[in-house]
Amino acid sequence: MSIRLGDIAPDFTAETTQGSIRFHEWKGNSWAVLFSHPKDFTPVCTTELGHVAKIKKEFEKRNCKVIGLSVDPLGAHVEWSRDIADTQGAAPNFPMIADADQKVAKLYDMIHPNASDTFTVRSVFVIGPDKKVKLTITYPASTGRNFDELIRVIDSLQLTANYSVATPADWKDGEDVIIANAVSDDDAKAKFPKGWDAKKPYLRVTPQPNK
Ligand code: BEZ
Repeated sequence: MSIRLGDIAPDFTAETTQGSIRFHEWKGNSWAVLFSHPKDFTPVCTTELGHVAKIKKEFEKRNCKVIGLSVDPLGAHVEWSRDIADTQGAAPNFPMIADADQKVAKLYDMIHPNASDTFTVRSVFVIGPDKKVKLTITYPASTGRNFDELIRVIDSLQLTANYSVATPADWKDGEDVIIANAVSDDDAKAKFPKGWDAKKPYLRVTPQPNK
């Protein structure tokens, strides 16, 4: 099943390295990142999981839980965690789904048969407090993800969920934003008291409103 932006993220039960979970219940009202790994004991995945463990506090600051998935059994995840600690200086400190029967991988369309019949691709789903999918990204197995980009997108998603703005190319938290086109100039006067620079009628740039 393909999952599109705005869909409710499918619920599931799964065994994880932190016990059995029901996904929606585990997520609660937080944001969540669900990300898949092609296989245990593989090099790129090893670096990714160690890296996410080290920056987990960045997700926590954003009220965002993190959960990984690999289509291997729990025992393999536990053994691999020791290797991740050995080589990356941090073991996964978030649950890793043991999806040996590919139940969750299939539910989230993480297996792309023309890439591999058996491995999952590197899928990322960002899910909002309303359980809706806010972002999907798919990387191939050979390319490790850029988690700074993921944090950047979460900042944008959280900002644009609360203010009538959009964020421009390469935007980072604290930089100027764009007033949503649905907001009239009259309404913008109240919503954006710091004013704006109208580079074009459809391109009104304003300081980030929550800074
Ligand atoms: C890796 O994580 O290094 C990897 C996994 C599957 C295929 C290719 C690379």
